[in-house]
Amino acid sequence: MDITGEIDLSSMRSMINAFPDLIKMVELNHDVMKQMKEFSREQFRGICILGMGGSGIAGNLCKEMYSDEAYAPIICVSDYILPKYVTKQWIVIGVSYSGNTEETISAFEQAVNRGCPTISITTGGRLEVLSEGRPICYLPIGFQPRAALPLLISVQIQILETILGLIPTDMKVFSKKINSIANTWKNTSISPKIIANEIVGRIPLFIGWQHLSPVAYRAKCQINENAKTVSFFSVIPENNHNEIEGTGMYGTFQIVPIFLRSKYETTQISKRFDATERVILDEGVRSINLRIETDTKLEELVAFTLYVDMISIELADIRKVDSVSVERIASLKRILSE
Ligand code: F6R
Repeated sequence: MDITGEIDLSSMRSMINAFPDLIKMVELNHDVMKQMKEFSREQFRGICILGMGGSGIAGNLCKEMYSDEAYAPIICVSDYILPKYVTKQWIVIGVSYSGNTEETISAFEQAVNRGCPTISITTGGRLEVLSEGRPICYLPIGFQPRAALPLLISVQIQILETILGLIPTDMKVFSKKINSIANTWKNTSISPKIIANEIVGRIPLFIGWQHLSPVAYRAKCQINENAKTVSFFSVIPENNHNEIEGTGMYGTFQIVPIFLRSKYETTQISKRFDATERVILDEGVRSINLRIETDTKLEELVAFTLYVDMISIELADIRKVDSVSVERIASLKRILSE
């Protein structure tokens, strides 16, 4: 199924609106599926997912989602160096939309040299070359890597569920569900536009727990890249052991805390969110609490990701900035190549 023709690839809004459809767009081909099934029968020590920026976030989301059910560790590496303990008993998933990100390429080369079984997720580039004779999952071209996130998530869900021997998610049903959840936000008090209007001119600090902590990170990155402004993220419970001491300055720096609340919070975690909000309120700063009604943890994670993406695009429009271009990333790359 190819819906890329219907998406305006020069518009971030159009790409984000296509998020639910993109989830069902790429199915693992027969050969890749067969190799993943073979991986699942082999004894392996762990799964290592490589990727930077937009390509790295999907790995972090999946790691948080599947770590509870995995019988071996899942780690994410966003660096040049592959840890020494990633030996040939580890499965390495190389993720780079462009296929040319130097940190990912460097770590992937080390995985190949160590004899690790690999799978690559890319549109081509060096990663494709290095993966010759190895399984590759190709993505449709033309997207900004960060807008390709739904493609990257859905492919990694399929790969991890197969390797870990879990019940496979039906991506078509899942995509429909995410679409119907997104439709419930329109014209309500929690529409992404309303949240964007609340944070404009201030510094949003997204705070999440467990599977919603990489969503908090995604929110920060999307506000940085799409809305071209400052944003931060934080994780409960770690926040309560250090960052909370800085809340006295939230008013001065115009920081607006945004809690990503989960239906799956344990009692201790819920108490910590409520207590953190109270401490911040005692400093005179109101927080925003966001919740999304879903039936499963995976739906919560993916729908929340779409929701924060939508906030970033609304904020970009309010700020009248170009949400697609990433000029500073490009000039940094130019400086590095000099
Ligand atoms: C650009 C973006 C970046 C890239 C990153 C890595 O839209 O989101 O964060 O994802 O520079 O590039 P790729 O994804 O091509 O490996």
